Amino acid sequence: MHNTASTVDTLAEAEVLRLREDFPILQTEVNGHPLVYLDSGATAQRPLAVLDAERDYLLNLNAAVHRGAHTLAAEATDAFEDARETLARFVGADADEIVWTSNATEAVNLVAYSLSNASAGRGGAEADRLRLAEGDEIVTTEMEHHANLIPWQELAARTGATLRVIPLDDDGALRMEEAARLIGPRTRIVAVTHVSNVLGVVNPIEEVIALAREAGAMVLLDACQSAPHLPLDLHALDVDFAVLSGHKMLGPTGIGALYGRRELLEAMPPFLTGGSMITTVTTTEAAYLPPPQRFEAGTQRVSQAIALAAAVRYLERVGMPRIAAHEAELGSRLVDGLGALDGVRVLGSGIARPRVGLASFDVAGIHAHDVGQILDDEGIAVRVGHHCAQPLHRRLGITASTRASTYLYTTRDEVDAVIAGVARAIDFFRRR
Ligand code: ALA
Repeated sequence: MHNTASTVDTLAEAEVLRLREDFPILQTEVNGHPLVYLDSGATAQRPLAVLDAERDYLLNLNAAVHRGAHTLAAEATDAFEDARETLARFVGADADEIVWTSNATEAVNLVAYSLSNASAGRGGAEADRLRLAEGDEIVTTEMEHHANLIPWQELAARTGATLRVIPLDDDGALRMEEAARLIGPRTRIVAVTHVSNVLGVVNPIEEVIALAREAGAMVLLDACQSAPHLPLDLHALDVDFAVLSGHKMLGPTGIGALYGRRELLEAMPPFLTGGSMITTVTTTEAAYLPPPQRFEAGTQRVSQAIALAAAVRYLERVGMPRIAAHEAELGSRLVDGLGALDGVRVLGSGIARPRVGLASFDVAGIHAHDVGQILDDEGIAVRVGHHCAQPLHRRLGITASTRASTYLYTTRDEVDAVIAGVARAIDFFRRR
């Protein structure tokens, strides 16, 4: 039910071991034990190819893009735009539909602030159809991480629109009958995560997108936990916006991206304003460049974009369908192994949907921080807390959980190590 690995070509153990050599940090020790890094959902490790690409750019090409007329600036601009094309190809989009941002959070805020700027009359007649006002509705879900929730709360507060939230069932699955009830003629935008950063479950986004299309609403897909782990084709999915984060997909921190459907980006007023996004400026007004430059004010994160493109090429070389199959298998192993332990509740384990390699769990009577501490003592790195998803935890009746998350470099032995570590933590605390 959780696993597609049996039907799809996956990564052989020997290949995973070879890939690990590209990630020197995975060979380090923590607290006297070999590092078992199971926190890739928070941030992934970076292969040498990514570090080398950034260093190479800085050593040989570094210059301000889209500004200078000198040769180095032109070459840097070409490299920067090539990186955009690489990312666009990877997610099934066109290059001019990709806007560089600092991270996914900024990308969601870009859309939310652009819509409220349109609502305040900015952007002229073209932006009229993007206006939100009292009576309009924004729909999101109870499982979103805070980055795909708070910007919509703020947009609703600024425009008078109402925020509606698709609830979850007791397992944590989206209640699709409620989604069908909530998404309607008043809905202007639906913001939904592709893969939950707590449950590791792939949401039925095709159904959500179909509901939004029927209602004439826009859709923003949070691809933070899908773009790194699953093949993604944004044009085929027919979403209007998507956001992703570089550091979760083998790239650097400080870089993320917004995908926007071309005709929407063209109609949208800017979020951040300043240099590099204008055509003409007087002391009283400015005219703006077309997208994506309209949304890229100020000096850009050039070396980070180039390193992110190297990360994408690395993922493409390994192959996203094989990475997805490998992680589906590890995800099932985590869910089954942790779920078999006495007193462990794996969040979302009852949901019959495909999974990535991520599982969050609650251990009866033991705080997540204590579980995390015991694992850390053994060199096992997991995330503990609410994982920036307090409403989801509240819905499931807990305040915190422990999360293990994998990537292409994770071995079965590492998954077994965390399961054994949790078993020892349970034993330790129960005997006290
Ligand atoms: N980046 C946060 C995570 O670890 C939300 O899932």
